[in-house]
Amino acid sequence: MSNSGSPCNGQPSQAPSLSSVPTHGQPLWLLAELTYKCPLQCPYCSNPLDFANFETELTTQQWLDVFQQGRELGAVQLGFSGGEPLVRQDLTELIAGASEMGYYTNLITSGVGLNERKMAEFQQAGLDHIQVSFQASDESVNTMLAGSKKAFKQKLKMAREVKAQGYPMVLNFVTHRHNIDRIDRIIELCVELEADYVELATCQYYGWAVENVKQLLPTREQLERAERITNEYRDKLAAAGNPIKLIFVTPDYYEERPKKCMNGWGQVFLTVTPDGKALPCHSARMLPIEFPNVTEMTLQQIWDESPGFNHFRGDGWMKEPCRSCDEKEDDFGGCHCQAYMLTGDMHNADPVCSKSEHHELILNARAKAETVTDNPAEFVYRNERNSRIIATDSLTDS
Ligand code: FES
Repeated sequence: MSNSGSPCNGQPSQAPSLSSVPTHGQPLWLLAELTYKCPLQCPYCSNPLDFANFETELTTQQWLDVFQQGRELGAVQLGFSGGEPLVRQDLTELIAGASEMGYYTNLITSGVGLNERKMAEFQQAGLDHIQVSFQASDESVNTMLAGSKKAFKQKLKMAREVKAQGYPMVLNFVTHRHNIDRIDRIIELCVELEADYVELATCQYYGWAVENVKQLLPTREQLERAERITNEYRDKLAAAGNPIKLIFVTPDYYEERPKKCMNGWGQVFLTVTPDGKALPCHSARMLPIEFPNVTEMTLQQIWDESPGFNHFRGDGWMKEPCRSCDEKEDDFGGCHCQAYMLTGDMHNADPVCSKSEHHELILNARAKAETVTDNPAEFVYRNERNSRIIATDSLTDS
């Protein structure tokens, strides 16, 4: 095996202590992407561009088997995601099964398709936590991004219902150049909805967001302003005794060192796609690696033995500058999906790293963000039609 990794510190050769023999822990966090179907069409969706090619979905029993195997491997937290997981008619059954197995369960939803009755049913089935995602703090931007005129009102209604039914209130706002300047209004909306936790997550560039990076990446000034305002609100709200937690996530495009993606490849995180592909991260499906399917192997074989999960464990795969870098234990070379998307070689260092020979790609993207004219008409929306066009185009190109 070859590969990528993290930055070098400019000191030659002597590789630090990270073992070249792959070691790994347990998959503590299991993410069940129940379906790729979704009524919304956000242009920053992290689903694969060619999601329309994967129509098969695991059955209820197959999912329950996966959850059981996950528990036996040590998984404690289970996220139901998609697509929109509410599309699955067996969601209550899946929640009940997972809850009985002892998972802490989390529904990650747009709120579209949810209602009071379903929410109560999920609670009865043992659901611990609902995270509702918003596109914006006002209806027009929300509609422009989600592609649905009804979504904003429905989200507000469901967010209030989450609170009324006693779930922890977790709201997620993906921020980008079209909504980040309204961060004060976003925070005020969260306060109004009595949120307990708010993720103000600046868009990360995977899946559809890569297609739309030009229209999504904020300028440094926008980002710094948003962070400053968030900090001011944090202080103000804490002083007023409001326990709301505001979590601000910056895009790694404005960092000089890459993130320790997924806390390390195949270390704690396991995703299963609607059709049963097991992945070490939600984006890995696009990599030129053969990943196993839960219908063909047990989760234990997948986690411990499959080449896909072992590919980036340890440091044997690293090439320079990562191999001799004294920071490689901090970030494991950054994000392999990002390295692949931007440089065409997943074994390269994540270009976010200023030590990467490809870091200029990130600098260029930042520079471009300063000159772009906002134009929502340029968005490529995440929908089946566009997915099929992109999938066909990539076949023609290859
Ligand atoms: Fe796949 Fe970072 S998202 S390694």
